[in-house]
Amino acid sequence: MCGIVGYAGARPALNIVLDGLRRLEYRGYDSAGVAIVDGGLFTAKRAGKLANLEKALQDEAGLSAGTTGIGHTRWATHGGPTDRNAHPHRSADGRVAVIHNGIIENFAKLRAELEASGIEFASDTDTECAAHLLAIELQTAVGDTPGARLAEAMRAVCRRLEGAFTLLAVDVQAPGVVVGARRNSPLVVGRGTGENYLASDVSAFIEHTREAVELGQDQVVLISADDIVITDFHGAAAEGRPFHIDWDASAAEKSGYEYFMLKEIAEQPHAVAETLLGRLNEHGDLMLDEVRLTDQDLRDVDKVFIVACGTAYHSGMVAKYAIEHWTRIPCEVELASEFRYRDPVLDRSTLVVAISQSGETMDTLMALRHAKEQKARVLAICNTNGSTIPRESDAVLYTHAGPEIAVASTKAFLTQLVACYLVGLHLAQVRGVKYADEVAAVVAQLQEMPGKVEQVLDMMEPIRLLARELAEAKSVLFIGRHVSYPVALEGALKLKELAYMHAEGFAAGELKHGPIALIDHGTPVVCVVPSPRGRGVLHDKVVSNIQEVRARGARTIVIAEEGDTAVAPYADHLFYVPVTPTLLAPLVTTVPLQVLACEIASARGHDVDQPRNLAKSVTVE
Ligand code: M6R
Repeated sequence: MCGIVGYAGARPALNIVLDGLRRLEYRGYDSAGVAIVDGGLFTAKRAGKLANLEKALQDEAGLSAGTTGIGHTRWATHGGPTDRNAHPHRSADGRVAVIHNGIIENFAKLRAELEASGIEFASDTDTECAAHLLAIELQTAVGDTPGARLAEAMRAVCRRLEGAFTLLAVDVQAPGVVVGARRNSPLVVGRGTGENYLASDVSAFIEHTREAVELGQDQVVLISADDIVITDFHGAAAEGRPFHIDWDASAAEKSGYEYFMLKEIAEQPHAVAETLLGRLNEHGDLMLDEVRLTDQDLRDVDKVFIVACGTAYHSGMVAKYAIEHWTRIPCEVELASEFRYRDPVLDRSTLVVAISQSGETMDTLMALRHAKEQKARVLAICNTNGSTIPRESDAVLYTHAGPEIAVASTKAFLTQLVACYLVGLHLAQVRGVKYADEVAAVVAQLQEMPGKVEQVLDMMEPIRLLARELAEAKSVLFIGRHVSYPVALEGALKLKELAYMHAEGFAAGELKHGPIALIDHGTPVVCVVPSPRGRGVLHDKVVSNIQEVRARGARTIVIAEEGDTAVAPYADHLFYVPVTPTLLAPLVTTVPLQVLACEIASARGHDVDQPRNLAKSVTVE
């Protein structure tokens, strides 16, 4: 939710930290702040976007030249998005500054205890407790160096905290050192030469180093210019997992596009191709990325649950159709935030597929942990190397989409679809319900998809023009059947989150059971029509549904397959997508809906990349 960055090295830290925050701003943008150790402790923080902080710093005489610093960009949980609640928070004695991502669940108790001891709080945040506690622990912390004492004090604080947290701290008496800690919240180390970094994700330091170290659960890390020291919360030495970042800084730049979202929509053909790359070995077997499961484990699977949130959940809904069709194993899709609370029936023959772009979504992580406690096998589909969900899973398939910066998911969705198809095919192959040549035939169809997505992108101008016309609509409805139903839901989600318009997706057959009452004269209804080939019956049913809404005054916006003339008489606006196998159609039909939402939001004057109230990665439950 919040973006966190820390630097220890020989260069002035302020600009490095601000640059890192710029790259992390998609994680939260309610307020921002920095703390630099420069003999004293320089701090600055402002409500609003990072630009407000940068403006305040420009107005400040004599900027800090200190070479150790931390910075934060916030998505508010405890306390509104104000200057006083912005991070960093300083201890009462002014010695330490702390930034935090997550929620300290026992903060009310800790705050009462600290206030009873005479400490006055300067904010409404849970984080401030950690700053005061750290200063208290420092008074008695033992260690050979000031940095070691800061790390020792941090461990003592962490042992008292409940909930989810990433904490970074600097101490005026430990210049050259940043100490970090993590529980259930992301933190990675960037290993430089004569300098080191800490951050919520690698994009913060990618411009300086592509060598990273993934931290484990409940670990404390100390970085200085030349050292990285990792321990658990009790001081026992621990190791991180080193990894190389296989994309460069340009991947996290807008590269001439007005918005990251537009760039990421345009990158989809490449992202799909990358996710497919090298998936078939010389025997024609499908390859995942990390597999800590045997083929026998997969043969024993008698039920699949897919858990995910938001857009990732919609990709799971598509996967259900493919997995059941190809494997004949029952497959359920669950919102991760609901999964563990309804006590699902799980055992070691259940495969739980957790889908997450960030790999840090707390709802999905908690669903995964619940599944593991019940002995289920867990397979992650994830876009972020070094994140928690793949680390805690039994097998991983990475979507190689590159960094997704816009809050609204686009290329992550398409690559999650591809990954889901691959998982379905892998299961089918291992279980012997599909021969290698049958799998290869579907993989060959998948290999054609980047070209088809490219064709759709080339045909988007009429969608852009229509978007301008729809910008003032009060409400937009989306309908679809079979795999087009999740596409309708995804189209509606995009419009809600970006354009702040009422939008709803429906299974087209459900309209007559209630929602059709919403249709008024001129109500735009986006209809995603299945192919007339293959399961033709679905096509005809949706065409009837389109006639039903049109008869009640709807303005119909139809996405149909090239050559589908039957639907034309009922379409006020008709957009064709290339001919595609039924199960793979969401890879092309979703793209016009992404463009539509992006353009409507832009026409309404909204910040497409950073919609209000949202953050890219939701690391609280
Ligand atoms: O990182 P994740 O894929 O786990 O995120 C899940 C959702 O928060 C995410 O898909 C969200 O719905 C999208 N940003 C919407 O565009």
